[in-house]
Amino acid sequence: MPQDAQILQAQALFQTTFGHAPSAQAYAPGRVNLMGEHTDYNGGVVFPMPLALGTAVALSFGGPAGMIQARSADFPETVKRPLGDTAKDCWTDYLIGTLQVFFEGHPPTEGLQITVATDLPVGSGLSSSAALEVALLRAMCQLTGRNLTPVEIAIMARKAENTYVGMPCGIMDQYSVSVGTPGSALFLDTRQLTSEPVALPDSHNFVIIHSGLSHRLSEGGYEKRVTECTAACAALEVEFLGDLSPADLHRITALPDPLNRRARHIITENDRVYRAIDALKSSDLGRFAALMTESHQSQSADYAVSLPEIDALVTGAIAAGADGARLTGGGFGGSIVAFVEKSRVASFTQKITQGFPNARVLAVT
Ligand code: GLA
Repeated sequence: MPQDAQILQAQALFQTTFGHAPSAQAYAPGRVNLMGEHTDYNGGVVFPMPLALGTAVALSFGGPAGMIQARSADFPETVKRPLGDTAKDCWTDYLIGTLQVFFEGHPPTEGLQITVATDLPVGSGLSSSAALEVALLRAMCQLTGRNLTPVEIAIMARKAENTYVGMPCGIMDQYSVSVGTPGSALFLDTRQLTSEPVALPDSHNFVIIHSGLSHRLSEGGYEKRVTECTAACAALEVEFLGDLSPADLHRITALPDPLNRRARHIITENDRVYRAIDALKSSDLGRFAALMTESHQSQSADYAVSLPEIDALVTGAIAAGADGARLTGGGFGGSIVAFVEKSRVASFTQKITQGFPNARVLAVT
């Protein structure tokens, strides 16, 4: 749905829920990651692209003091919670966590009324939570007149995930949806917090396919990978695995399994980001496509964040005419991204839909 239509939907929902128009409204996109999975919390580089799917938030001060009243177009009921509440595994945790970071211990005396409309499926690996946090922060800046840069917004949104929601994520999602523009891919250095746009080839599309398996159920797996990387860093005496290059791969043989495989994925995946961007800049699309598929194999065999159904979808995508394909996002379900020549996209999509009844093409970009 176009951004304007999404905002209109959040505004209309606000009017019907609260009986008056909202004072502020904003939108933020989701993202697909093209290369560099799990490298962001390892001080590495990533290559995400904001999408034309996203989330709109409409809001106003109002309602009972010290409370939020929040309604999503996806659920019938309005949730009412204290602004100072602790996380309780509800979609509104993302709102409360982000607002607590925004107010920095000085909450307003008024209440807040909020509505949300999105076309990003939750658990699809396309950053629905980052889109919600960033859209909320943009709307809060409008409402309060506070000025925050896109990078400051990304840092706040990540802080809400890390400290309130309890998701030890890196900054890729929040940075790419706050700083980037839909359809334009970003080479992002998560250590320096710098990025540059990278042109994508006109000959191909990226086709994003939801496996039908939501990744929400296995969030513990992500946390476990973060802990394993920290243990590998301690054993190798480095601050971040992203500090190592393929020339250091001999060092990981000293690590016990699976830490050796986890480290190998991060080191090779980080290097694949540089190589993928180099391949695109020199118009070597065959090399770029091969790197995508190599990235999937590394995520599956070494990092163990794929699932048999996702592996089958990647193999099926290549059989259906994609030049390369890989799991995108945090894994344990979610989506794959396939690199498909434009002339083959229609037949590709048809073959995937026929061969994988649970899978859904979410975007062609
Ligand atoms: C999730 C996290 C990101 C990143 C990816 C994996 O999307 O939010 O920070 O770690 O997984 O690359």
